[in-house]
Amino acid sequence: MLEGHDILMATMLNGAAIMDGALLLIAGNESCPQPQTSEHLAAVEIMRLQHIIILQNKVDLIQESVAINQHETIQKFIQGTIADGAPVVPISAQLKYNIDVVCEYIVNKIPIPIRDFVKPPNMIVIRSFDVNKPGSEVDEIKGGVAGGSILRGVLKVNQKIEVRPGIVVKDENGNIKCTPIYSRIVSLFAEQNELQFAVPGGLIGVGTTMDPTLTRADRLVGQVLGEVGSLPDVYVELEVNFFLLRRLLGVRTKGTEKQGKVSKLAKGEILMLNIGSMSTGARVVAVRNDLAKLQLTAPVCTSKGEKIALSRRVEKHWRLIGWGQIQAGSVLDIPAPPPEILV
Ligand SMILES: *[C@@H]1O[C@H](CO)[C@@H](O)[C@H](O)[C@H]1NC(C)=O
Repeated sequence: MLEGHDILMATMLNGAAIMDGALLLIAGNESCPQPQTSEHLAAVEIMRLQHIIILQNKVDLIQESVAINQHETIQKFIQGTIADGAPVVPISAQLKYNIDVVCEYIVNKIPIPIRDFVKPPNMIVIRSFDVNKPGSEVDEIKGGVAGGSILRGVLKVNQKIEVRPGIVVKDENGNIKCTPIYSRIVSLFAEQNELQFAVPGGLIGVGTTMDPTLTRADRLVGQVLGEVGSLPDVYVELEVNFFLLRRLLGVRTKGTEKQGKVSKLAKGEILMLNIGSMSTGARVVAVRNDLAKLQLTAPVCTSKGEKIALSRRVEKHWRLIGWGQIQAGSVLDIPAPPPEILV
């Protein structure tokens, strides 16, 4: 369903949920802005990533005067946007020019957000795997692994965990039902380092006792992992207040840039939503002023106040059209954890 640039946009929007800042990459040997650059910047604005460093790449391919001209063009392009005032660092990724400067900016200009180590842990899953090789012996089989970023709290080895929405099925009447997955942490990793505790920030791999078929091939992406009984509700319908972009931010088609107006949300139309690290389809069931009621095709574990990105299919591509914030919604009844989980 998603292809090329569409996939990259969805990946970026999903990833933005766990980012503290963004590097905006601009090719020095192309005119600026390229349509995809506009869309990337719009996404950065939507996700409210305040800390941005702009990389003017491939300066090894251009003359100094061209680089200086483009620097000015970039300054104009970002004027009045969320990236206004962001440093523009000329680099060559190929020849590793100025990478040290980029590192310095990352360390000094992107502050570490205040991390909450006290609240019940909550991690959003952005990857998941089955790490077993075909033909493994039964007693060597390892449980499922989930990778993601802890938003708050601390995960510990041996801790009992819950994953929501978990296993999603439709009953005979077409109603969505979900059963959270209960499991236990058997290992924690940051890169190659094995941990006993994992705290917010960075990417963490969580080895669990889950059936690896539940985690293979990114099946858990978009789900939330955390302390049993403390995860947010699972929504099947959302009421959001939304803001639409004025214009579509185009990818170039046949050399001409298409920058159509973004039309109003229409009752009955299908959108793609990015909520946290979850991508899901949604049908617009009602619209009034800047409020919309959206029926989700997949249930999402989220909370009021969370931001969502809205995309619409335009000429066979999913295109970012705006963003919204969850005001209310309908939540699924989730069965209480089985008693043996709680002891
Ligand atoms: C810019 O450089 C890339 C190689 O990195 C090349 O493929 C592309 O054609 C160049 N663009 C222009 C406009 O010269």
